[in-house]
Amino acid sequence: MTRQLFVTTALPYANAPFHIGHMMEYIQADTWVRFQRMRGHEVRFVCADDAHGAPIMIAAEKAGKTPQAFVTEIAAGRKPYLDGFHIAFDHWHSTDAPENHELAQSIYRALKDQGLIVERTIEQFFDPEKGMFLPDRFIKGECPKCGAKDQYGDNCEVCGAVYAPTELKNPFSALSGATPVLKSSSHFFFQLSSPRCEAFLKEWTQTAERLQPEVLNKISEWFGTDEDGKPKLADWDISRDAPYFGIRIPGTQDKYFYVWLDAPVGYLASLKALLGADFDAYVADPNVEQVHFIGKDIVTFHTLFWPAMLHFSGRKVPNHIYVHGFITVSGEKMSKSRGTGISPLKYLELGLNAQWLRYYIAAKLNARVEDLDFNPEDFVARVNADLVGKYINIASRSAGFIAKRFAGRLSADLGVEGRMLLDGLRAHAETVAELYDEREFGKALREVMALADRVNEYVDQHKPWEIAKQPGQDAALHDVCSVCIEAFRLLTLYLKPVLPALAEQVERFLQIEPLQWADAQRALGHHTIAPYQHLMQRADVAQVMKLFDTPEPAAAEPPGGEDLAAEIGIDDFAKVDLRIARIEKAELVEGSDKLLRLTLDVGEGRLRNVFSGIRSAYKPEDLQGKLTVMVANLAPRKMKFGVSEGMVLAASHADGKAHPGIFVLEPGPGAQPGMRVR
Ligand code: MSP
Ligand code: ZN
Repeated sequence: MTRQLFVTTALPYANAPFHIGHMMEYIQADTWVRFQRMRGHEVRFVCADDAHGAPIMIAAEKAGKTPQAFVTEIAAGRKPYLDGFHIAFDHWHSTDAPENHELAQSIYRALKDQGLIVERTIEQFFDPEKGMFLPDRFIKGECPKCGAKDQYGDNCEVCGAVYAPTELKNPFSALSGATPVLKSSSHFFFQLSSPRCEAFLKEWTQTAERLQPEVLNKISEWFGTDEDGKPKLADWDISRDAPYFGIRIPGTQDKYFYVWLDAPVGYLASLKALLGADFDAYVADPNVEQVHFIGKDIVTFHTLFWPAMLHFSGRKVPNHIYVHGFITVSGEKMSKSRGTGISPLKYLELGLNAQWLRYYIAAKLNARVEDLDFNPEDFVARVNADLVGKYINIASRSAGFIAKRFAGRLSADLGVEGRMLLDGLRAHAETVAELYDEREFGKALREVMALADRVNEYVDQHKPWEIAKQPGQDAALHDVCSVCIEAFRLLTLYLKPVLPALAEQVERFLQIEPLQWADAQRALGHHTIAPYQHLMQRADVAQVMKLFDTPEPAAAEPPGGEDLAAEIGIDDFAKVDLRIARIEKAELVEGSDKLLRLTLDVGEGRLRNVFSGIRSAYKPEDLQGKLTVMVANLAPRKMKFGVSEGMVLAASHADGKAHPGIFVLEPGPGAQPGMRVR
């Protein structure tokens, strides 16, 4: 029976380029998808950028961009990674796309109609300067348990204590440094604690083959009641107050869905963008299996919130959640700050073969939630021993004779031993298939390499290079080399989910149609193949080690892109009269795409007119009412648009092209217009 598979990988946050952890997930899912397609199953394989949330909004603001522009730029950089590693998504979307706004809102409305959304007032830390509620990770302070300084709002990295941000001593906002104040606001909650949610989730999670056993174990801890008799499943806060980059909650003016509400809906949105009018029928079809590949850190979202959202909005629930562990590099967790981790793009730029990484990762993957390590020496050894030494070698030791001595034509006779060898290889087609299907890629590849060993033993016994020198042995040479080519075809078929580009090259070399799994039971017979061209280089340790080269030390570049100006004395500085100014008004200047006209209050009882070249970075309404710093004793300057009576201070990099952004200075809290800066 043909399976209908709707397959996704987790939607990566659109705040950074891919790292090797993302590529590992895509390689796992892509290999599985390619295998299913070779079996004749129909797969829709989609992903998208996860665009929303406070961290992305804040990162965009820091970069001087709108969140939309910020995530669009990240999305524009995805293609080289996906193409480079042969990840064949059918579609890549964004959670900020219209389909997702519509679907998220319609799912929410349905949950509300079910009576599963409750409104409650809660108190949270609010940054009075930024005018926004602070997510936990943007609140810092002293650990309530051990007193360690500079700890995050949810846990202490020194003593490991877990607490609420309101328990921190001397809390401050990581955004502005201001002391946060408690402010109440009404939030919407999805009532996961309701008995019907728990009943559904118990049933869903315990359905056979939905979850890996270790995942199910972990999840079971979430059910039942705690010592006080309260349900362990707490209601889920799904709303956030403006300002927030997200999807507006229907019926409100200033409330948005928490990013994790609309993120998984993005799976459906991406599918909808792919299928168009066929979407509704497809997602409702009971024959379609919905499969999500995810990492171990986001299990709760996919095994509790997401199925409950789908079920209670009257939609089909996911069939399988396949969870993988994390990839480490040389035993270390990836960390940008410590310079470990390797860049997938750098890997490609160094000319390293993408399929080496696909093979290496696949060879280390199993169906369990286990971490795996990228180790450069091990990588080189594995690739060279298996791929080049065992597999490619079979073709390179036999193909030349077929071309030179038999004009590319294969023999169909093969001899008893040859036929037995090939039948043995074919007999493993179902075992290998089962292993791929179960995501036991490591086992599948070990199986294939054991088959390659058998073929190499055959080659070593029959020594085609020696038969070739013996007169009258043409038929024997022809048979042995033809056996090798047929064996190579079978091994290529088994490796194709992992090595798709190489398999394509082989298909061209063998002059055959794209290999499908059923082709394992066929034979090439009397068939003509093309001349052999070398298919894969050996990996080189020195080249692989270049992945770990750190770029030139930053000291080579002057700070901010320019050298410090000549030294001055304090008297020189005192000549510059810097004052706090309030921006009363900010306006566009007709005829100029660089300038804004600012009306400034410097506490003089009159207002000043100042032109400032910051239009590229600020919208007038963003500046109105803000405090800044100005040079107040600069001689007035007549400009095309009027007289400028001073200068507003702003920071920028010397190379504005490479490092865009202009940042107007803002005084700390409490400063008043007219105060001198000294
Ligand atoms: N945006 C959320 C997912 C939303 S899904 C509706 C997110 N994004 S992420 O960019 O942080 O992670 C994307 C995927 O990469 C997740 O499945 C995550 O587990 C996986 N990985 C992140 N680091 C990883 C490794 N070091 N190793 C393997 N996978 C890792 O979470
Ligand atoms: Zn502590």
